[in-house]
Amino acid sequence: MSPLSAALAALRVYAVGAAVVVAQLLRRRLRGFAEPVFPLQLERVAIVTGGTDGIGYSTAKHLAKLGMHVIIGGNNQGKAEEAVRKIKEETLNDKVEFLYCDLASMRSIQQFVQRFKMKKIPLHVLVNNAGVMMVPQRTTEDGFEEHFGVNYLGHFLLTNLLLDTLRESGAPGRSARVVTVSSATHYVGELNLDDLQSSKSYSAHAAYAQSKLALVLFTYHLQALLEATGSPVTANVADPGVVDTDLYRHVFWGTRLIKKLFGWCLFKTPDEGAWTSVYAAVTPALEGRGGRYLYNEKETKSLAVTYDLELQRQLWARSCRMTGIADVTQEAFRG
Ligand SMILES: NC(=O)c1ccc[n+]([C@@H]2O[C@H](COP(=O)([O-])OP(=O)(O)OC[C@H]3O[C@@H](n4cnc5c(N)ncnc54)[C@H](OP(=O)(O)O)[C@@H]3O)[C@@H](O)[C@H]2O)c1
Repeated sequence: MSPLSAALAALRVYAVGAAVVVAQLLRRRLRGFAEPVFPLQLERVAIVTGGTDGIGYSTAKHLAKLGMHVIIGGNNQGKAEEAVRKIKEETLNDKVEFLYCDLASMRSIQQFVQRFKMKKIPLHVLVNNAGVMMVPQRTTEDGFEEHFGVNYLGHFLLTNLLLDTLRESGAPGRSARVVTVSSATHYVGELNLDDLQSSKSYSAHAAYAQSKLALVLFTYHLQALLEATGSPVTANVADPGVVDTDLYRHVFWGTRLIKKLFGWCLFKTPDEGAWTSVYAAVTPALEGRGGRYLYNEKETKSLAVTYDLELQRQLWARSCRMTGIADVTQEAFRG
């Protein structure tokens, strides 16, 4: 396919996608949005990455309202302290805290996990939410392209380092849950296994889309591993929709202008955007069910290539090598 026809095809997908999203949102606005009701989650513990702002902040707040002990993982101490203070004040839940975790640094992720494990508390829900979008070409501390490193690889490492605690904390009939926030942008993503770091040619949009596609492939493979090993943990993907947050700070100025003028009707609020993550984290309807792509609190299909088992396996193996994690795929499926 020529670059021009590829661009036109992507544009067509966007136009159709945008029309569907706007129609759904307008219907929601006209009907009024009823906040979902979930059972209390007392004695349960959640980690929310990027819980200092936007969708992550609202997710942390909703989980705290349900009585969970919530740990916000973030890379901005001052902002996080303010977020913790506000959530405590609004929810009257004192068990909200911050632990430093810079997803752009494998060392920081390892230290975060060490500090979390020193608390000797269980972990019932991990929400892989933090993200960056359309940032200029730059690399993480470990030399990974930033979208790939922060959005995908950081969460890959974090989840793998926390899997033992998640396994110990889950129980049959009350699984622990990994919720990974992807995006509709994954539908136009391509996984370039020969150039995962986008070093040959860089497009901020393609790099963001690839990272979000990688997160879906990761979740499906993780779910298969968890099932193969009989672990009481599930893994699902949450797609929040189009949400009015600061994530758009690096996009084209015209898009930012549209967001400013029409955000109130074209975008979800962060509180609305958080519901799919919260749903995936706590709804009894998903007990024991994983490997699903969730949008507007319902299961839907992700891009066809995300169901390619060989691609899932290859990405997992590469990611293990890049992060220094042992790849247990073969023994999990053999046993
Ligand atoms: N907004 C949307 O329309 C939309 C649509 C689809 C998917 N999503 C996804 O939803 C998730 C949340 O995005 P959002 O819209 O809420 O954006 P946001 O308001 O910009 O929040 C992103 C969060 O990630 C944190 N973060 C960024 N880099 C980090 C790092 N290196 N280490 C730790 N934390 C880091 C940010 O912390 P700082 O503020 O301190 O940098 C912030 O708390 C993202 O994964 C995004 O891809 C959003």
